[in-house]
Amino acid sequence: MPDAYVLGIETSCDETAAAVVRSGEEIVSNIVASQIALHQPYGGVVPELASREHLRAIVPVVRQALEKSQRTYATVDAIAVTQGPGLAGALLVGISYAKALAYALEKPLIAVNHLEGHIHAVLLEERAKGNHAVNFPVLALVVSGGHTHLYLAEEHGEGWVYENVGHTRDDAAGEAFDKTAKLLGLGYPGGPVIDRLSAYGDPTAVKFAISQMKHRDRRDQNQPESARPHFDFSYSGIKTAVLRYVETHNMRERVEKRQKAISAISQPKLEDYLAACDQQTLDLIASFQRAIVGDLVSKTLTAARACNAATLFVTGGVAANAELRRTFESEAAKEGLPAYFPSRPLSTDNAAMIAAAAYPRLLARQFAHADFCAQPGLVLR
Ligand code: KG4
Ligand code: ZN
Repeated sequence: MPDAYVLGIETSCDETAAAVVRSGEEIVSNIVASQIALHQPYGGVVPELASREHLRAIVPVVRQALEKSQRTYATVDAIAVTQGPGLAGALLVGISYAKALAYALEKPLIAVNHLEGHIHAVLLEERAKGNHAVNFPVLALVVSGGHTHLYLAEEHGEGWVYENVGHTRDDAAGEAFDKTAKLLGLGYPGGPVIDRLSAYGDPTAVKFAISQMKHRDRRDQNQPESARPHFDFSYSGIKTAVLRYVETHNMRERVEKRQKAISAISQPKLEDYLAACDQQTLDLIASFQRAIVGDLVSKTLTAARACNAATLFVTGGVAANAELRRTFESEAAKEGLPAYFPSRPLSTDNAAMIAAAAYPRLLARQFAHADFCAQPGLVLR
């Protein structure tokens, strides 16, 4: 097939994004309008506000993506949009717009699973670097604000098929970063702040125990004893442990003072955060991050061994974390397992990953029906 240009649209959470990707391997344009400032005063994403903001942003964001790509509505080959998982109202904005565009332009429409998008962000960038030889099976850790999922992927025809081999039982890792940052008075989103502040604390100062959960899939009672175990995660306990630490070490007053100081600054910088944190808090932050990173890395590598994975992908917002990348790189290298990450801009939500994931479906002519709906709980298979 000659070069194909896919216009991707992503509105599943708090980023309105559009991108044009050539043949699943070259980002021609990639526009992300973040709503972080809008949600910051509430300490998390407010679904109604997210939908309204997507409505406001979708037309200019798509227009900008096309302008930057030097393509027009008429010269893209297909339109791809996130079907789920995500916030229902937010997904609906992108889907309605994509459907209208596809209908008016008489272009094929492709529905994409957001999690497959995160996985394809890695593939897209590897292809852009000239690496076309990914060995299967691929074990992909998708670690974001809403997910901590392990998928074992195999190639199947033009596309990939996925088996879920692990997931979080409660909070996602990104959610634990966000909730912990909030309870320490550091604002929203917490991941990037904790990432930067951790470098200034002692990661061995506070010991956190994260529950270990290895079991055979309990959803299927009939499977044999030899069935592959699941490698599940759990991060709600560590957030409670941080809260308990704050209370037992009389840190509450300091947290309140910090919360006031940080929320009074419109765009706090690293110096502002550091000025608001005492050493004990920095040690607590570094220890929290070390515990989460250690757990993500050890469980993922145990799963990689059990599944005989040939390649490891680590993707999603939390994959932007410096310590996580460093630890995965060194630990996977010890086992001779090639580990790939997206660049930081492609770790968090974007539409280039949606356009890239759509490309094999364009080749296979797997188009969406005009009446397809948003699926907030869409499963990846
Ligand atoms: O993939 P993403 O943009 O949206 C979801 O699909 O959830 O991920 C957002 C999550 C947030 O929880 C945010 O705190 C976390 O990714 N995050 C990070 C970092 N950058 C973003 N967590 C740890 N370290 C980071 N550098
Ligand atoms: Zn995401």
